[in-house]
Amino acid sequence: MPLLEVTDLIAGYGRVEVISKISFSIEAGKSVGIVGPNGVGKSTLLQAIAGGISPSGGSIKLDGVDIKGKKPEDIVRLGLSLVPEGRQIFSGLSVKENLALGLTGRKDKKGSVEAILKMKELFPVLSTHENHQAGMLSGGQQQQLAIARALISEPKVLLLDEPSLGLAPTVIDDVFDRLKQIIALGTAVVIVEQRANLVTTFAEETLVIRDGHVQSRLTPADAANLASLEKSYFGAGE
Ligand SMILES: Nc1ncnc2c1ncn2[C@@H]1O[C@H](COP(=O)(O)OP(=O)(O)O)[C@@H](O)[C@H]1O
Ligand SMILES: [Mg+2]
Repeated sequence: MPLLEVTDLIAGYGRVEVISKISFSIEAGKSVGIVGPNGVGKSTLLQAIAGGISPSGGSIKLDGVDIKGKKPEDIVRLGLSLVPEGRQIFSGLSVKENLALGLTGRKDKKGSVEAILKMKELFPVLSTHENHQAGMLSGGQQQQLAIARALISEPKVLLLDEPSLGLAPTVIDDVFDRLKQIIALGTAVVIVEQRANLVTTFAEETLVIRDGHVQSRLTPADAANLASLEKSYFGAGE
């Protein structure tokens, strides 16, 4: 059984339907990429899954449990976390305090100390800077902090909205190396990315969203032809 199963999902704002009948599923220890032009509804899709907006149709099952329309905090407790676009860390709080905020998503408070220790092991840079203001970290370090905070609740499924945004290429490699580790530990990871080439190479399956639906599904083997695909999908290459 897949960990996350999204079927014919419809969502939008008011009467405006942004995504129509999107379906995909993901299993433990796997990754799915989501690409598509700006404004096509990638963030809307993640928000609809994570409870930020209420879907108007379809179904979302997390480990067999129907989570469609549930509150974001309940969805986190059931095992799904979102790292939103722009990271949204608290720049005036310390790294340690930002991490601790992730504890509110834990089902029970037992194991909190261990969970924080685990994150500091997985992201050594956060350990080094734990008493520094989060706003003083570099972009890549802030992205690692945002991911670590989302992982504190020990999600079965992690959604990431454009994790590479604003990061230098070597730093992006760093973030994706961390994601590889997280996936190897059994987490299912869904990554929305502007860098189609990067995510198509990385993920087992990548959905190309166009006009609110899945236009095609790519595998790493398609990455080689991506330059031509990108021209037709996005109008321009990376
Ligand atoms: N809070 C909102 N209220 C109304 N419309 C929105 C809101 N957020 C996004 N939209 C619209 O929904 C569409 C999809 O946006 P979004 O999901 O952010 O796209 P993407 O992440 O693919 O760039 C766009 O037309 C955008 O203007
Ligand atoms: Mg977006």
